[in-house]
Amino acid sequence: MGKTFYITTPIYYVNARPHIGHAYTTLACDAVARRRRMLGFDTFFLTGTDEHGQKIQRAAEAAGKTPQEFTDEISGEFHALWQRMGITFDDYIRTTSERHKRGVQELWRRIRNHGYIYKGSYRGQYCVFDELYVDAGGPGGSCPECGRPTETVEEENYFFKLSAFTEQLLELYTSEPHFIRPESRRNEVVSFVRSGLRDLSISRSTFSWGIPVPDDPSHVVYVWLDALANYVTALGFGSEADSRYRQFWPADVHMIGKEIVRFHCVYWPAFLMAARLPLPRSIVAHGWLLFEENKMSKSRGNIVRTQTILNVLGADALRYFLLREVVFGQDGSFSFDALVQRYNSDLANGLGNLASRTLAMITRYFRGEVPYPSQTAAHTPADDSVADLAKRTIADFHFYFDQYQFSRALEAAWVLVAAVDKYIVENEPWSLAEKEDENSRARLATVLYTAAEALRIVTALAHPVIPDATGRIWSQLGLGEITKFPLATLAWGQLRLGTKLDAVQPVFPRADKSTIERMQRMEEDPTPATSTAAGTAAIESGANAAASTAGATRPAASPAVAGDGKIAIEDFAKVDLRVAEVKVAEKVKGADKLLRLEVDLGSEVRQIVAGIAEAYAPESLVGRKVVVVANLQPRRLRGLESNGMIVAASIEGGRPVLAGFLEDVPVGARLK
Ligand code: ME8
Ligand code: MG
Repeated sequence: MGKTFYITTPIYYVNARPHIGHAYTTLACDAVARRRRMLGFDTFFLTGTDEHGQKIQRAAEAAGKTPQEFTDEISGEFHALWQRMGITFDDYIRTTSERHKRGVQELWRRIRNHGYIYKGSYRGQYCVFDELYVDAGGPGGSCPECGRPTETVEEENYFFKLSAFTEQLLELYTSEPHFIRPESRRNEVVSFVRSGLRDLSISRSTFSWGIPVPDDPSHVVYVWLDALANYVTALGFGSEADSRYRQFWPADVHMIGKEIVRFHCVYWPAFLMAARLPLPRSIVAHGWLLFEENKMSKSRGNIVRTQTILNVLGADALRYFLLREVVFGQDGSFSFDALVQRYNSDLANGLGNLASRTLAMITRYFRGEVPYPSQTAAHTPADDSVADLAKRTIADFHFYFDQYQFSRALEAAWVLVAAVDKYIVENEPWSLAEKEDENSRARLATVLYTAAEALRIVTALAHPVIPDATGRIWSQLGLGEITKFPLATLAWGQLRLGTKLDAVQPVFPRADKSTIERMQRMEEDPTPATSTAAGTAAIESGANAAASTAGATRPAASPAVAGDGKIAIEDFAKVDLRVAEVKVAEKVKGADKLLRLEVDLGSEVRQIVAGIAEAYAPESLVGRKVVVVANLQPRRLRGLESNGMIVAASIEGGRPVLAGFLEDVPVGARLK
């Protein structure tokens, strides 16, 4: 049997809808799981929902629903969101499922049969929000975790002999130094346990929304014992069909937020010790995600839902941002400004730009085939230093990622992106391409091979974090399906001579101020969580046709044209005509009429595909000012997204002549 890897997220309470905090843990686990699969591990990735307890029962009542209706709905929302985000979970456990109930009752029996459960009576404070017994404090007090008022609970309960495990737990933290990561959390747990453990109430008898205690259905199992058990019940623990349990337990990682460390690092191992079951190998706790430095909360009205970001920038942008920007283990802050800034600097201008310029040059200068790096005259120390850096990057990336230091791993990979960018600029492949001599040609081959090989390495490493874009770059590199690549073998020099590139397409269109405004507007005016937008990567709402010659894209919803064929001034005002400067112009492979342009609109640079290749040489357009219809719907032409339309007169034979100005005009100026 091969190496296995089992990773879990917390199971989320269904009292509230999913938000970016839940997404953070889930996508971090997803990145780890995807990487382990690429490394050849037989991987099992579990997530799900926590649906019992007083808090859920009350939330359902408040919503005027039965607890089951209520939990079905919200659990479904989590499930749909994870699917939409491309989360590769292998199973989704719900605590209201039969398989879970059976497993919890079996766990209870084992703990009881080993003598660690007794009946007593509890009188004390309870925090419903955290589902936590608050040992200190009396009536009228508040929860030490969340500050909410506690409630007095006085009832007959079953107790778990937690106090019996003090020594064994302390021993565990010492003998397994990585049982709790990071170190700071471990220290907190150690001092909590050292200060003495009291027995824990593990049943409730004053409400019914839970799993009945075996042989005493007047009690339901305490919701945290119920919830923690999900990590084994999902694998079939307590049933005949427990082959997954035998294959995957103990878990390699339970990833959680820092606020539930005590439940995972103290209660859970103690329950397992009592039941004589193997313990998980590690608990990894991350910090708290804030919104613009503040705690997200309903009352503040600052809860960020991920749908907005998915709709506007796509899942990769969110994944990259959270793992790159937040130092894992520490608290981090989310803001739309920071998201867009990171997106532009690291993805659009960083990896995206490196991919498109490298691949475009190989396409142009070597007919889309990876050229052979010269070992002789055309070889320089600069080539070696890129190769050396790439080798170090592979080692560093693996090292940091294995320690869950995602931001450092990504930082290392992006140092390579920046170095290759600089290498390209300094070696000027475009100038080498203009020279006819053999040496320049060999040099050009070496430079482009080196850039493409470094690109391949960053793409493979970053795949678990930004799966969609890297999958596309990988296939543009002519390498097929990236998930099949055995990541453990990644090394410099594997890119083969003559590999045929696929059609080159930009993967990260640039974002701008209006992108931020759109996300903010959508947050303020939330649509149902399940709504989907047309394209995840569609950034601008502008559109386009190939050129004026391509005609209208769709009929107007209401007739704007009066009977006499005239339109009102308001109709004309709807057309956003702008002055733009052409920054990049190149032929589109396999399309004689099309040019791919990147035009600067002042506030942003965007890609437009225009049907003007027969009338204009690409070089003649760079630096030229043109008129653009900036608010057309985006369109795809030959697989390329086109965001706007270049205005041209159509003369004899349909030949386009670009509109322009006799006087100098600034880019971005509006025509009206
Ligand atoms: O605690 N920042 O569920 P829960 C970072 N059902 N992470 C956040 C976050 C934020 N602002 N908000 C939520 C429960 N999370 C129990 C767990 S496990 C057996 C039972 C993430 O819905 C983070 O992973 O309150 C945190 O631990 C989890 O969601 C809590 O989700
Ligand atoms: Mg919580």
